[in-house]
Amino acid sequence: MFNTMTLTKAAGGFLSALLFLLLTSWAASGLWHVGSSGHGAEGEAQAYSIPVDTGAAAEEAPVEEVDVAALVAAADVSRGEAEFRKCQACHRLDGTDGTGPHLNGVVNRDKASVAGFSYSQAAQDMPGVWTPENLFAFIENPRGYMPGTKMAFAGIRPAEARANLIAYLETQN
Ligand code: HEC
Repeated sequence: MFNTMTLTKAAGGFLSALLFLLLTSWAASGLWHVGSSGHGAEGEAQAYSIPVDTGAAAEEAPVEEVDVAALVAAADVSRGEAEFRKCQACHRLDGTDGTGPHLNGVVNRDKASVAGFSYSQAAQDMPGVWTPENLFAFIENPRGYMPGTKMAFAGIRPAEARANLIAYLETQN
């Protein structure tokens, strides 16, 4: 039934299986018993522990609060005027409306309050006043601040640029 060839193959298979087991157990002991196997100090046995985020770090991290009023007070109005070029395609400062409502007097104006301008439902549903803080947040990310707005503008990320723009708008009444 069994010829030599079959026996040799079987023995070979058995031996390589054994070798595999030996190698894996050796590799495993090397991995998990660093301290006790003499490759490092006892304390290093924990070198493979996985740090678990307990949430403590997140609680300790200070909430980033931007003092918009201070930023606007320190802003550069002429840079803000240059920044306003990004808005000019849609907004005017002479009391007439274009694609967007006129922005002269917008600082501390009620939201969506320009008579005759057809605001989106999203704008009409948003209560409040365009304080410098609200403008600061809206201009950063219009669609994030007012989901559903029809203002097709990606936003301005740098805080300073937004502060400059708001300082400029404050001069336009
Ligand atoms: C592509 C045209 C477009 C551009 C560019 C644009 N806007 Fe607008 N903006 C609009 C439209 C349209 C609305 C009305 C939004 C609505 O009804 O949802 C609007 C609304 C606003 C409002 C709310 C006004 C109100 O009366 O409630 C502010 C503030 C505003 N835009 C500021 C800016 C500023 C600042 C910029 C430049 C950084 C800018 N927009 C760029 C089209 C634009």
